[in-house]
Amino acid sequence: MRKKIVAGNWKMNKNLQEGVALATELNEVLTAETPNCDVVICTPFIHLATVSDIIDHSVIGLGAENCADKASGAYTGEVSAEMVKSTGAEYVILGHSERREYYNETPAILKEKVDLALINGLKVIFCIGESLAQREANEQNAVVKAELEGSVFHLAPAEFANIVIAYEPIWAIGTGKTATAEQAEEIHAYIRSIIAEKYGDEVAENTSILYGGSCKASNAPELFAKKDIDGGLIGGASLKVPDFKGIIDAWK
Ligand code: PGA
Repeated sequence: MRKKIVAGNWKMNKNLQEGVALATELNEVLTAETPNCDVVICTPFIHLATVSDIIDHSVIGLGAENCADKASGAYTGEVSAEMVKSTGAEYVILGHSERREYYNETPAILKEKVDLALINGLKVIFCIGESLAQREANEQNAVVKAELEGSVFHLAPAEFANIVIAYEPIWAIGTGKTATAEQAEEIHAYIRSIIAEKYGDEVAENTSILYGGSCKASNAPELFAKKDIDGGLIGGASLKVPDFKGIIDAWK
């Protein structure tokens, strides 16, 4: 059975003290009432080591939002997958549309990052999704297929077991505009079908595919009720415990 997951993506929000306060509060709330799904928080690099010591890792997983495409060495300002792992983190988000768009991360660069993350024992939350123009041209299936082929479909089946897919239509991220549950289910089912074509039905059935893009407590129950939607990758609504908890509770 594939995992149900609600993952937070803090993006570039919260200084260290604020991040510690948020993680502490979330840990209190979730250890008092065990969630019905896996919960992960992905934080800026500088928070990882401190937050790792605060949270109960059996209740909350920890992830980074990025890692370097090189293993180590003279790459000033970069943070390697090995360094991320050494903080106690278990996950890394890769391929987020903001990284692809603002930092020119190509499928080839992301492939390097995916490989390094897996070599270092991290699970990857790999983001895919189309722009508004691509959706209007009905190119969404071709876009997500190319993104998977470019960065993760070279993996062996055993490696692919460490990949969580996050489908995030770019037009829905931070815009308040969510894909309808039907729109999301349609493309999630398509994504699962191409994973099945590549790796077979069993791997496809075991792959968690999260929805992201203006997911909140009010729309999460309808989204998560769909057969191929296995949870969410949450930006804005992961920054306040009641909002994030509201989404986690959609699995009740
Ligand atoms: P949002 O962001 O929930 O704020 O739309 C989601 C994401 O970018 O992961």
